[in-house]
Amino acid sequence: MGRQLDEQIAGRFPVGQRLRVLDVGMGQGTQALRLARAGHQVTGVEQDPKMIARAREELAGEPEGIRERVRIVQGDGRDTGVHFLPGSFDVVLCHGVLMYIEEPDPLLAGLARMLAPGGLLSLLVRNGDAPAMRPGLSGDWAGALAAFDTTAYRNRLGLDARADRLADLTATLAGIAAPLHAWYGVRVFTDTAADGAEIPADVETLLAVEERAGKTDPYRGVAALLHLCGVRG
Ligand SMILES: C[S@@+](CC[C@H](N)C(=O)[O-])C[C@H]1O[C@@H](n2cnc3c(N)ncnc32)[C@H](O)[C@@H]1O
Repeated sequence: MGRQLDEQIAGRFPVGQRLRVLDVGMGQGTQALRLARAGHQVTGVEQDPKMIARAREELAGEPEGIRERVRIVQGDGRDTGVHFLPGSFDVVLCHGVLMYIEEPDPLLAGLARMLAPGGLLSLLVRNGDAPAMRPGLSGDWAGALAAFDTTAYRNRLGLDARADRLADLTATLAGIAAPLHAWYGVRVFTDTAADGAEIPADVETLLAVEERAGKTDPYRGVAALLHLCGVRG
């Protein structure tokens, strides 16, 4: 994700420009912190106080120059219009959130409104075009068979969630004036790795393979997750 995001940022904005980044559903703040370390001004929105505490803990270990570039707001990502002015961000991230939102269109429209013209909207969603891949590769044949006909699924935490189809989101992004500019697959080969699996010694090669597959047809189309990048017109 980090590499894909950096590729999109490098292709859109001048090197060295301090970007205003909004990270909705920032979780423990992995991307938010990474971007703050890279010199950007980051605002994270998160609804879960436990996640906010984790993000703050991570942030506390950073030098002051980085800490002061991150602002954390507790709230619902659907209410960005309450907290921020339209057009006030260059980059808006919404990673790993849409699967928990039943009606994503109002959230997406709100996120697009936060972007300045030419700004980048980066979404990470569960891939609704290939939901049979995870159960199928895990040998769960009944689960795989059922998955062909639905975009609903139960995630590894046991939560009911929702996948999105590329064509649907492409239409939505066009409708909210942030048309799709690029898309990637994420977790093409590594989706069935156990949670907490040890990081392999050849992780750099693993990442090179995932990065390549994530931007190459037909591999990216069956990835567990889709990374969609829209650009505000
Ligand atoms: C799967 S985690 C992803 C975290 C982070 N974006 C990442 O990619 O590592 C999803 C996060 O979104 C948060 N979230 C879900 N729905 C939200 C909402 N409506 N408003 C704000 N945060 C939300 C959850 O609390 C959780 O921390």
